[in-house]
Amino acid sequence: MSWVADFRELEPVVQRAPSAHNTQPWTLTYGADHVDIGWDPAAALPVADPTRRDLFLGLGAFVETCLIAAADTGLTVAAEGLRLVAAPARYDTPFTVTDIEERRCARGRYEPGPLPPVSLEPGVVRVNAGAVAPLLRPADRWMFGSAPVTAELREWLRLTPRHPRYDKDGLTDRALALSTVEAIGLRVAVSRPVHAVGRRLGLPALLAAASTLDGTVFVLTGDDPVDAGRRLMRTWLTLGRAGIAVHPLSQLLDCPHTARAVAAMVDGTPLAVFRAGRPVTPPPRSARLSAPRSGASPSWTSIDG
Ligand SMILES: Cc1cc2nc3c(=O)[nH]c(=O)nc-3n(C[C@H](O)[C@H](O)[C@H](O)COP(=O)(O)O)c2cc1C
Repeated sequence: MSWVADFRELEPVVQRAPSAHNTQPWTLTYGADHVDIGWDPAAALPVADPTRRDLFLGLGAFVETCLIAAADTGLTVAAEGLRLVAAPARYDTPFTVTDIEERRCARGRYEPGPLPPVSLEPGVVRVNAGAVAPLLRPADRWMFGSAPVTAELREWLRLTPRHPRYDKDGLTDRALALSTVEAIGLRVAVSRPVHAVGRRLGLPALLAAASTLDGTVFVLTGDDPVDAGRRLMRTWLTLGRAGIAVHPLSQLLDCPHTARAVAAMVDGTPLAVFRAGRPVTPPPRSARLSAPRSGASPSWTSIDG
């Protein structure tokens, strides 16, 4: 029997890969001796992620997750871009299915103090958190001030356990580390009529004020977002093993003004920004679909495509 059938059994594990807004955009198309990774356009974020930077980072993280899961279960699989193929040897990785299962983002407060020494992937640069902190509020204001971005975010928010997709995908109140009152507040704030009025009343500033920045800040740089997504996943797993969680701050790269400021801090093209630290309270396990989305699998196009 081909390795493909055994790999298929790993779907619940590989579903634990991270993705922007937890849309889990990947699709799997099984061939006789290969598996193609594509994406479901309904789970891309055309408004918030028009260049598909986060989409391809997420697909890269998914590729890495597939390789780790396969290696840990004894399958000899390699990746050629977004295709998984048979390989002569197991993928060389220190990570395991347990690491995949235990990794999670943490958006609450972090313990003060420096991170333990960890070796970082190439292209992952530590930047001055003090210089990043003042950028967060304008980036959040930009994000919440844009009606189309807020409308798209609203589609992926699950702010009450009564939401029909609460345990399937998207961002829950628990994952966002919101209290009940904060979750109700956010639900009202991003609802269509209130957001329209609120924009004039300074609601974006109010929502942005809720953002915090503690911890150590890293920027991931690179040219190929799938490769970068693989390095991002390895970085998050390395940190996870040391008890360190991460909180991506994509809005810093989405907002043109703050994106320029971040770019000035590093060599190379910034593709992701995240803070990292030891969470004060254990982060919750995020929701997942039980199997990958089905959908058309558009072939690879460039990040700008
Ligand atoms: C490319 C990428 C961009 C992301 N951007 C953000 C972000 O801007 N803000 C945020 O809070 N989480 C962000 N996330 C984290 C996802 O929301 C998170 O992975 C998802 O909700 C699943 O949760 P988990 O990673 O804890 O399993 C991002 C993740 C990826 C892979």
